[in-house]
Amino acid sequence: MDSLAIPTEHCADADAFLADMKAGLLARPRHVSPKYFYDAAGSELFDRICALPEYYPMRTELGILKQHAVEMADMMGSDIDLVEFGAGSMLKVRLLLDAFPRQACSCRYVPIDISGDHLHAAAEQLTADFPSLPVYPVVADYTALTTLPGLGSAMRRRAGFFPGSTIGNMSPVEALGFLTQAAGLLNGGGLLIGVDLVKDPTLLHAAYNDAQGVTAAFNLNLLKRANQELGADFDLDGFAHHALYHPTYHRVEMHLVSKQKQCVTLAGIRHTFDEGESIHTENSHKYTVDGFRELAARAGFSPEAVWVDDDHMFSVHWLSAH
Ligand code: AVI
Repeated sequence: MDSLAIPTEHCADADAFLADMKAGLLARPRHVSPKYFYDAAGSELFDRICALPEYYPMRTELGILKQHAVEMADMMGSDIDLVEFGAGSMLKVRLLLDAFPRQACSCRYVPIDISGDHLHAAAEQLTADFPSLPVYPVVADYTALTTLPGLGSAMRRRAGFFPGSTIGNMSPVEALGFLTQAAGLLNGGGLLIGVDLVKDPTLLHAAYNDAQGVTAAFNLNLLKRANQELGADFDLDGFAHHALYHPTYHRVEMHLVSKQKQCVTLAGIRHTFDEGESIHTENSHKYTVDGFRELAARAGFSPEAVWVDDDHMFSVHWLSAH
């Protein structure tokens, strides 16, 4: 497998976690970025969330990709550099790769992810299954990427892939910034992106408050990480997972709510929590199809095809960057 130079300035590290955690606990309302959910334990919990009966996004998006992969691959074109933002375990991209006509396509795959170990392990597995596919893993924070390292030969049309509605975890302003940056990186090609849709709040409530408590464990894992990695002394039984749909902002908010008045120390600073006081840990924005197309157009894309499941739960968009 080919490998690219690692832009280390983009790598998340313990210093960034500590600095963000310190600042987030001092802020009002208190907040921490959801990017810190994903250590090894958090990634495992997220995989379990994706398999839960209540959590519809994963299986719905997979269904859309399976059903329309050939049309999607056609829109992306052959002889492309397929750039995946936040590649994770590279499961969904396999559906696209299977849909490219093997003989005609000399696609190169550029998975970008912040977690180097996971990225390289997944890339090796992919190479084993697609031996003729050149894979160029890039260890980087894709939200902060303004250029892509050259691939050492003639530049090709770039098709981006950003599934999973991860864009929903950005604020609309951040999403606009990310899309604007992506439109620049993918100029001449386009972006295939998965976006969760607004729907009956009861379904959203169930998806983020599953009966088995896996989402609660995923949320609380953030405090466990802070204890293990930053020497904080959060009492894990002293905080409760709370997720609610906020109709004004079209988003599910996740919080960790203090069950009682208590003190927590992080890096020598004592933080007093009142009963009911929360740390806001995640927003998951939901869009209408038209609302997302408008946002993409403002970022410089021309929204083209959109695929939605029969129950109108989830959407996948092809945004052209011409
Ligand atoms: C990764 N992201 C799109 C998930 C979401 O639905 O916002 C993260 C998640 N949070 C709770 N459950 C899943």
